[in-house]
Amino acid sequence: MTERSAGSYLVTTPEQMERLGQRAAGGLNPGLLVFLSGELGSGKTTWVRGVLRGLHYDGPVKSPTYTLLEPYYLQDFAVYHFDLYRIESANEVEFLGLRDYLDSAGVCLIEWPERAQALLPEPDCRIEFLHDDNGRRLIVDCLSDAGEVLCVSMG
Ligand SMILES: Nc1ncnc2c1ncn2[C@@H]1O[C@H](COP(=O)(O)OP(=O)(O)OP(=O)(O)O)[C@@H](O)[C@H]1O
Ligand SMILES: [Mg+2]
Repeated sequence: MTERSAGSYLVTTPEQMERLGQRAAGGLNPGLLVFLSGELGSGKTTWVRGVLRGLHYDGPVKSPTYTLLEPYYLQDFAVYHFDLYRIESANEVEFLGLRDYLDSAGVCLIEWPERAQALLPEPDCRIEFLHDDNGRRLIVDCLSDAGEVLCVSMG
């Protein structure tokens, strides 16, 4: 699929990263698939925490590094937060039931999608998190109409 539009954000603090996620929450629609790429510690989970705060979830938001998935059952839809960093084989992805989550009406936010690239469809939106001298830089690519809605919402 061709890229529709792209945005770039300089984010200097974790608080600002959460606020950006919070804004993105307003642009989520059921079934949305978002890839969160970028090296270790680049702010992906912090952004997801902001998304969940934006959806009025006040509980803990832990990194799914070991569990691979943290599900959040919210008022309007579920949010499935994946971290595939530790995935070592397609069998593990199968065991996780990834396909069922992708086919569901939930929103899937996937850290380290590269680990299961062959098994994942094209996302609605891809966000690249980069370390920057002044904090982090986000490069956002929208790949579908639903992805555009998310991008517009981030501002
Ligand atoms: N814009 C920012 N500027 C500075 N520090 C930040 C920024 N955003 C997040 N951080 C901090 O970076 C650290 C790592 O963030 P986070 O856990 O969100 O990264 P991650 O990309 O999910 O890493 P991993 O790939 O290991 O899951 C945290 O301490 C977080 O507070
Ligand atoms: Mg993380």
